[in-house]
Amino acid sequence: MKKVYIETYGCQMNVYDSEIVKSVLGKSGYEITDSETEADIVLLNTCSVRENANRKVYNRIHNIKHRQNGSEVMIGVLGCMATNFRKQLLENPRLPIDFIAGPDSYKRLPQLIADVSTNGTDSKNFDVTLSEFETYSDVYPTQGSGVNAWIAVMRGCDNFCTFCVVPYTRGRERSRAPENVVDEVKRLAEQGFRQVTLLGQNVNSYRYEGKDFAYLLEKISEVPGIERIRFTSPHPKDFPRNLLRVIAENPKVCKQIHLPLQAGNDRILEMMNRTYSQKEYLELVDEIRRLCPRMVLTTDIIVGFPTETEEEFEDTVKVMEQVEYDSAFIFKYSERPHTVAQRKFPDDVPEAVKTERIVRLNEIQKKHSYQKNLAHIGEIQEVLLEEESTKKSPDEFQGRNDGNKIVIVPRGEYHKGQFVQVRITGATPHVLRGEVVEVLGK
Ligand code: SAH
Ligand code: SF4
Ligand code: F3S
Repeated sequence: MKKVYIETYGCQMNVYDSEIVKSVLGKSGYEITDSETEADIVLLNTCSVRENANRKVYNRIHNIKHRQNGSEVMIGVLGCMATNFRKQLLENPRLPIDFIAGPDSYKRLPQLIADVSTNGTDSKNFDVTLSEFETYSDVYPTQGSGVNAWIAVMRGCDNFCTFCVVPYTRGRERSRAPENVVDEVKRLAEQGFRQVTLLGQNVNSYRYEGKDFAYLLEKISEVPGIERIRFTSPHPKDFPRNLLRVIAENPKVCKQIHLPLQAGNDRILEMMNRTYSQKEYLELVDEIRRLCPRMVLTTDIIVGFPTETEEEFEDTVKVMEQVEYDSAFIFKYSERPHTVAQRKFPDDVPEAVKTERIVRLNEIQKKHSYQKNLAHIGEIQEVLLEEESTKKSPDEFQGRNDGNKIVIVPRGEYHKGQFVQVRITGATPHVLRGEVVEVLGK
């Protein structure tokens, strides 16, 4: 039996897809291994959203071949680099890879691997066709921890934000039938999962024959056994009132919304093709807070988009100060091949300026995260216990509150998947600490 090792980069969708790949290969008679050095086949499921993601993968490919002394190991590149960097991957004679497969081609992997075995690497072994239909609705991914299960409900992206490769690497938007998703959730509930996280590059533009994302959330919330529903990653343009109501009012839908801002200035937002203005974005935040004052809000921000001036950057600072996010992922603009921004806007903000801006925003965010977390001290929160120890100590149990914040409690006699009430007694910018005051029956 040939052994396959798979390494994953990038977003949660890639993590999910790696489980799909394991499932497909497992059915075709391959053994999945956790050890790279024992593997006959190494698969790298790659990301190309920013330049440093690419670089890491190139280094890894050389490093694997080197470690294995140029032995028989077969290397395959999957994921977003496969589609966006097909040429570079296939035509670089110094890159020791055997085949590549894009995100919509994983059912063809057994065939691709067999082709390499019979034809060798001289012929081009690749399949990077993007599909308008593939949703892998008939492949059950293997699932991790036993508490949270991931489900991709839609794939692809049609938004074409000018900085972003995802529409090119992942292709067009397509959604799975709601019944098919609900059936999978039922199966997961029967296996004991307590939480599902719905995934999509653009998850709230989910649409299937007139059924929207709000409908899907409601249907999933009716599945017994599933107590929490999360979703990622949404776009601010797709939050109609009916959806906000469901999120705010349905007790099973977690009170957290990731609301990628990207930039606070209207000229930059327009150049990014984000389709909302600063004012519209802030109105959405107000509406969310009106419907649910305790909603946890997180965001993504890019600094140093082409031509962004100091003054325009200050608009991003202003929005951050006004919204006070619970947490934020902040990135330096990274020019990506094939995007509109790459073709039209030279990457003209100096690296040092990008660094200055990212440092400033990270400081602001750290302050806000800490203030927000400190404000929870004294509250009683419902926590789903997820990990039997923490990185720091085997005497601690780690869970999350419904705002997706990590809550750490003394180890006790608890088990994974239990719901407990916790009194919050301490906070850092990253985690909350507390003591269990009650074990809940659900
Ligand atoms: N679909 C998701 C985003 C996926 S990419 C969404 O729209 O929210 C995750 C984040 O990476 C983006 O929100 C953006 O902030 C960042 N990102 C994407 N392309 C980038 C680029 N070219 N340079 C820097 N950051 C980028
Ligand atoms: Fe990229 Fe924009 Fe699509 Fe998000 S919505 S994946 S940032 S193009
Ligand atoms: Fe990266 Fe592709 Fe995800 S580019 S962020 S792995 S969709």
